[in-house]
Amino acid sequence: MNIILLGPPGAGKGTQAARLVEERGMVQLSTGDMLRAAVKAGTPVGLKAKAVMDAGQLVSDAIVSDLIGDKLDEIGADAGAIFDGYPRTAAQAESLDAILKARGRSLDHVIELDVDENALVERVTGRFTCAACGEGYHDRFKQPKAEGVCDVCGGAEFKRRPDDNAETVRTRMAEYRAKTAPILPIYDARGLVKRIDGMADMNDVAASISAILDA
Ligand code: AP5
Repeated sequence: MNIILLGPPGAGKGTQAARLVEERGMVQLSTGDMLRAAVKAGTPVGLKAKAVMDAGQLVSDAIVSDLIGDKLDEIGADAGAIFDGYPRTAAQAESLDAILKARGRSLDHVIELDVDENALVERVTGRFTCAACGEGYHDRFKQPKAEGVCDVCGGAEFKRRPDDNAETVRTRMAEYRAKTAPILPIYDARGLVKRIDGMADMNDVAASISAILDA
């Protein structure tokens, strides 16, 4: 199965993708994570991407489509793929079709997480992760059980993404409205889009996604 999770910054794409990985053994292909890893490793792609990401703008279509093609080859033909944060432009949607076709895959669902933009700034600016294991937390929605200690690995160091400040989040949302939302009608015309209330409790969102995948 190949699915796209689509929604603006903070819609819950990463949160739900992580659950699908755990519960269904699917593989998460997050272009944001791949780009952050490239920035951290100081690769040529990372060097090009860093300033663009810090400004909340979109990295070039060719770079992210190459990353996705390479990652799909790496995960093998039998693994179910969750596209998280890709495609984000009409050109990327076109590339994804070609990438999937070349590998004998096709899209099963495009799951749109429908959210109230006003709530997203709080979601994004409040999130942080354990520096050691990457477990995600939130100032308001999900604090570690013991203050300052990661529930999963016991680590005591946490970090925040450099692009998770209010100003950059607003640029990322504007990019979503201008470049990503317009690809929804393309998939809608193919009968692939399933809309979910992304403002619901995380468990309810997960249940709605499961119902779509099991139908
Ligand atoms: P990327 O990493 O993809 O960021 P994003 O799309 O802005 O998405 P986020 O990771 O911010 O949000 P999310 O929807 O995953 O939400 P999450 O689950 O964490 O991209 C970063 C940058 O990389 C881009 O700006 C761009 O520069 C570049 N890039 C990446 N892909 C690209 C591409 N294809 N083309 C070009 N450039 C690209 O949830 C957020 C918070 O809310 C969490 O704390 C979570 O706990 C909480 N939360 C989640 N669900 C709920 C809920 N139901 N109720 C309450 N809280 C919730």
